[in-house]
Amino acid sequence: MVCLGNICRSPLAHGILASKLPSDRFYVDSAGTANYHVGDLPDQRSIGVAKTHGIDISNQRGRQFKVTDFDTFDYIYVMDHSNFDNVVKLTRNTNDIAKIKLILEVDATITDKRVPDPYYGDNSGFENVFKLLDKATSIISNQLLSQAPL
Ligand code: 4NP
Repeated sequence: MVCLGNICRSPLAHGILASKLPSDRFYVDSAGTANYHVGDLPDQRSIGVAKTHGIDISNQRGRQFKVTDFDTFDYIYVMDHSNFDNVVKLTRNTNDIAKIKLILEVDATITDKRVPDPYYGDNSGFENVFKLLDKATSIISNQLLSQAPL
């Protein structure tokens, strides 16, 4: 799960998806394309909205996306088109490019495919991000559970 700062959107996407998958079969992580918040806790508003929904993301720490993530992960979900472009710039080959997906592309009912950056807004923006990501990660977890061999 990738966003810009790895403190607002991708920590939520990471925590929500991880809550829907067995940890012994799937490795979920998140990163930011920027290095502003390396080592930082998620934003308190992300921690709060996750907690309201029964998910603890306070064990996460910010990290920057790195080229070897293309080797570690089968799927790389980005939150918006700017994140998409930033991650594409780091690709080495067509295999890397094929792993990058705009997360809301999985939800055919949504026309605006951006997960809006809630950083400069209020709590309602974080609740909106949670709802968008909760639905998208339900679709993703169902896809992964039906594809992956036991
Ligand atoms: P995120 O939000 O990409 O969802 O983590 C942001 C967090 C911090 C900044 C920008 C976006 N920032 O400029 O520090």
